[in-house]
Amino acid sequence: MSKCEITFGKMKWRNPVTVASGTFGLEYVGLFDLSLLGALTTKTITPEPKAGNEPQRIVETKAGLLNSIGLQNPGVEEFIKTDLPEYRKIDTNLIVSVSASSINEFAKLVKRLDTQPGIDAYEINISCPNVENEGIAFGTDPEIVFDLTKKLREATDKTLIIKLSPNVTSITDIARRAENAGADGLALINTLYGMAVDVETGKPKLHNIIGGYSGPAIKPIALQNVYKVAQAVKIPILAMGGISSINDALEFIIAGATAVAIGTYNFVNPLGTIEVIEGIQEYCSNNNIEYKKLIGSIQT
Ligand SMILES: Cc1cc2nc3c(=O)[nH]c(=O)nc-3n(C[C@H](O)[C@H](O)[C@H](O)COP(=O)(O)O)c2cc1C
Repeated sequence: MSKCEITFGKMKWRNPVTVASGTFGLEYVGLFDLSLLGALTTKTITPEPKAGNEPQRIVETKAGLLNSIGLQNPGVEEFIKTDLPEYRKIDTNLIVSVSASSINEFAKLVKRLDTQPGIDAYEINISCPNVENEGIAFGTDPEIVFDLTKKLREATDKTLIIKLSPNVTSITDIARRAENAGADGLALINTLYGMAVDVETGKPKLHNIIGGYSGPAIKPIALQNVYKVAQAVKIPILAMGGISSINDALEFIIAGATAVAIGTYNFVNPLGTIEVIEGIQEYCSNNNIEYKKLIGSIQT
C-alpha cells in the first residue's frame, strides 16, 4: 500500500497526519502506538507556567466546540523536565508548539528549547496577545509576523512552522510575510471566535464569555483559507479545522495541504488519526495516485 511519505521543511514524515495542538497529549500513550503518526504536535508551551482560564472552559455546540482553555501548560522548564523525555520515547517527529508575549520572549523560548535533543520543529502560535502592541494578537499584523518569523529564523535551524489565525483581514498577506521571513511551513487554521449563552441564567456559557470555535462547523472556512494560502505561497501547509473523516482530510490535501492535523475530532474518536492515515493510504492505492501528485491537484 502507498505509504504517503512526505517532506515537511527539514522533516521526513512517514505519513501526512499529525494532531492539532492542544487536542492530544501524552495521555494517549498506551491507547495506540503514537509512532504511527507522521508527527506529534504538543500543546502550546509558554515561558512560565499558566493555570489557564476559570471554568467553564469547554462548551459543546450543535456543530462544533467552544473552548477558552487559556493556554494552560506547565511552562518551558517543567515541560523540558517532565514531558519532553516522554515525547522523546515516541519514534516520530516532534513539533513543539510555543507562545510568548513579545518577540524577544518568543526567541528566548525557542533558544531554550533548542538546547534540548529530540525536537524536530516549532509551531509558532501567533494567536496570542502581544504586550508590545496593546495586547493585540501577533497574528493579525503582517509586519509583526514578518519581524517575529525573522527573529525566530535567526534563533533556530529547526523547521519553523507559523500557525495562522483565521481572525484576520487577509490571511494570504500574513502567509506571504511569514514565507518571506524564512518560515519553512504554515499551519492553519487556529480557532475562530465564538460564544454561547445560557438562556436559563442569561449568562455566557464560557466563563471567559468569548472562546475559540473548532470542529466540523469550521471546515469550509478552514478549507477556503488553505486553498487561498496554497495559491499564495510555495512552502508546505499543515491544514486543520474540522477534519472529522478521511474525506475531509482528502479535501484539504486536494486544495493544497501537504499534511493534515486532527483536532477536535480526537475527542469524538480517539483513534481518528489512525482512521485518517489508513484512509489516505488506501485512497492513493485504490486510485493508483502518488501522494505528492494529490497535493494541490484541485481542478478549477
Ligand atoms: C480544547 C482545545 C485546545 C486547543 N489548544 C490549542 C493550543 O494550545 N495551541 C494552539 O495553537 N491551538 C490550540 N487549539 C486549536 C487547534 O490546534 C486547532 O487549530 C483548531 O481547533 C482547529 O482544528 P479542529 O477544528 O480540527 O479542532 C485548541 C483547540 C481546542 C479544541
